Amino acid sequence: MSSQTLREARKYEEVSAKLISAEERPAFHLSAYTGWMNDPNGFSYYQGKYHMFYQYHPYNCNWGPMHWGHAVSEDLLHWEYLPTALAPDEFYDRDGCFSGSAVELPDGRHLLMYTGVMRKHTEHGGIVDVQTQCLAVGDGIDYQKVDANPVLNFKDIPEGGSTIDFRDPKIWKNEDGTFNCVVGNRPADGSGQILLYSSPDGFEWKFDKVLVSNKNRYGKMWECPDFFELDGKYVLLTSPQDMLPEGFEYHNGNGTLCLIGHLDPESGEFVEEHNQAIDYGIDFYAPQTVKTPDGRRVMIGWMQNWDTCSMRMPNQPWFGQMSLPREISIKNGRLYQQPLRELEEMRSNRLELKDVAVNGTVFMKELKGRRIDMELRIRPEDAEQMYQKFAVRFAQNDTYQTALSFRPRESVLKIDRKFSGNRRAIIHQRRSLVNSKDGELKLRLILDRFSVEVFINDGEQTMTATLYTPMDAEGISFFADGGGVLVDVVKYDLTEE
Ligand code: FRU
Repeated sequence: MSSQTLREARKYEEVSAKLISAEERPAFHLSAYTGWMNDPNGFSYYQGKYHMFYQYHPYNCNWGPMHWGHAVSEDLLHWEYLPTALAPDEFYDRDGCFSGSAVELPDGRHLLMYTGVMRKHTEHGGIVDVQTQCLAVGDGIDYQKVDANPVLNFKDIPEGGSTIDFRDPKIWKNEDGTFNCVVGNRPADGSGQILLYSSPDGFEWKFDKVLVSNKNRYGKMWECPDFFELDGKYVLLTSPQDMLPEGFEYHNGNGTLCLIGHLDPESGEFVEEHNQAIDYGIDFYAPQTVKTPDGRRVMIGWMQNWDTCSMRMPNQPWFGQMSLPREISIKNGRLYQQPLRELEEMRSNRLELKDVAVNGTVFMKELKGRRIDMELRIRPEDAEQMYQKFAVRFAQNDTYQTALSFRPRESVLKIDRKFSGNRRAIIHQRRSLVNSKDGELKLRLILDRFSVEVFINDGEQTMTATLYTPMDAEGISFFADGGGVLVDVVKYDLTEE
């Protein structure tokens, strides 16, 4: 039986999404059906299709009582919207169905695990959110919350842990048929910790242990954890709140963190070996991964950040989109990301330019587009005279542009969307240290109308940013000073069919 709240959301979205034309949306990135979208939720492969749910407030472009929006895809690039899956309609989630995950049950049903939020008034007039973990089972379209909800509450939190910050369960099935999940929480030190729970059947849960403790190293609360084995290592992805900056690695505010390590053979404890940011750009948060039937680990993040959300354009009927699906791997102890290989099937109009000599500004008429896949290999024209700066500018016309610029002497790559048309004084630039030898650098840029994703040095790092530049700004130019640069370009258009 669906609730009135769910029926209303389904009715509302059906009518208002029809008013949004395909051209007003990204072509191959999933955007909110209507209204507001944040975190990816329940990213799973279920009965022949990828399911993506998301934090959703259909009624306007602001965050509000959280529903779960829903879409399915066969290739992770072409998405079909399905009706809202969850609405805040029970006493334990009446103030929001927060982030969570999904898995297929042995009997063929789809199990969703999410955070129920219930706002409570405290004795002294304050308000606190009580967060618990809840379940819903369904058939890929309609989901029923279970009677036993919430299945994890304050009794299942280790001593000193917060009942207010206890959220974002990521569930997985083990080879022996049992289940685990990780949940973000805050211990007494006020920072973050990841709790591990286990279940024989996906329904009955018990606390196992604290899997990883932040100990105030990387921000405070750790949101949206994901934990999995990859290339012989164990990987924890999480999104810390309230970060302090650290060199070029971590920036202030809401950030992303990847911890790579191993499990101690005796104690089974997670031993950290390496830490890094997941994305070095402006808009990337709360990623979730899925294992594809052919064994790839694919990650999708919310292509936005809480610190830059006030950038929405006044007349836009939707806000929030997901990143490209990215194939992830571990190489040389680092997280690598590559665009999903199926994206190559959308390529058309190959354009190859070799040894383009750049000194000053170079415009090439044939090089343009806002839905493109473009690879650049740059190197100094003269090995004896290292250039000062190289830049590629795109989404460009006389008024607008976004730029990536590289200074080989500092080995710093900068993304700058100050001139992209945004009217808010938020973060528009970010810098990252990149690996470069003798002034050489390899960049792959993917544009999809409202965003750019940059894959640096074959996926060693990424930089992601949303853009709200008018679509007729579609030029691309190169710039170099302090010495010449040679650029090899391979560029494709990315078409929808
Ligand atoms: C992360 C987050 C989650 C929470 C959700 C609420 O972006 O804050 O921790 O479940 O968003 O919409």
